[in-house]
Amino acid sequence: MSNNLLKGKKGIIFGALDEKSIAWKTALRAKEEGANFVLTNAPIALRMGTLNKLSDLTDSKIIPADATSIDDLENLVSETMSLFGGKIDFVLHSIGMSVNVRKGNLYTQQKYDWTIKGLDVSALSFHKLMQVLYNNDSIEEWGSIVALSYIAAQRVFPDYNDMADNKAFLESVARSFGYYFGRDKKVRVNTISQSPTPTTAGQGIKGFNDFLDYAEKMSPLGNADAMDCANYIITLFSDLTKKVTLQNLFHDGGFSNMGISEDIIKDLFKK
Ligand SMILES: NC(=O)c1ccc[n+]([C@@H]2O[C@H](COP(=O)([O-])OP(=O)(O)OC[C@H]3O[C@@H](n4cnc5c(N)ncnc54)[C@H](O)[C@@H]3O)[C@@H](O)[C@H]2O)c1
Repeated sequence: MSNNLLKGKKGIIFGALDEKSIAWKTALRAKEEGANFVLTNAPIALRMGTLNKLSDLTDSKIIPADATSIDDLENLVSETMSLFGGKIDFVLHSIGMSVNVRKGNLYTQQKYDWTIKGLDVSALSFHKLMQVLYNNDSIEEWGSIVALSYIAAQRVFPDYNDMADNKAFLESVARSFGYYFGRDKKVRVNTISQSPTPTTAGQGIKGFNDFLDYAEKMSPLGNADAMDCANYIITLFSDLTKKVTLQNLFHDGGFSNMGISEDIIKDLFKK
């Protein structure tokens, strides 16, 4: 159902890998709400070919960019601005990757080259992206920039490994850069702290299904799925949330404010 919340708005969506991706669902919803946008992902992810399907479904151009490369980001932003003939209204950073997680290295046994790579992809890329957007004056007044986080940025979830540190950095960058974007450009910057969600990135975390089950039982509204997240992102891109900025917004069915739930207690004591 469309409410035309993004009618006439133009954007860039990073991170749609396949139909499970939060960015994929966001692109479908943004189209329904009247937006036009560019889809982007790392060249290596584009080789899988699935993004062509989303591009057809949403009538969107694909412009490849490795989010850690300033040259790629400069090219993406300038090509997008010439495609749309002007500034952009919204940007979604939906990117995460840890080499230590992928290779099964424990938090206490990190290989630091991999730690730095994961930090660059998952967090520093958000600063790089915003610096390119800021310096090229690419975002319209009252535009909106959103990145995705997880509660392990603020609480201990051991299996989330070095991604916890990456997300803490990401949330901090949103606040710090959001100050300059707000003051100088009237642009808002927020992170959404999303429930565990069965996507390629999510399922790469050790014990993910147990995680998902635990969060489901802990959250009074249950886990938010990828489409719920897409809907929340649409509200943050819309003009209905113009004065929301520098926030880390929990979108987790209530999980972040729970101590214990009866369902979890039942599980603990069942023999
Ligand atoms: N799935 C979860 O449980 C969960 C929970 C909270 C937050 N998040 C966050 O949501 C975001 C989206 O992840 P998802 O769950 O949709 O998984 P996903 O695997 O579908 O998306 C991750 C994306 O990051 C892209 N990417 C990796 N390296 C890149 C690079 N160098 N340049 C550009 N893009 C690159 C991948 O190609 C992929 O499209 C991530 O920031 C993730 O950490 C996920």
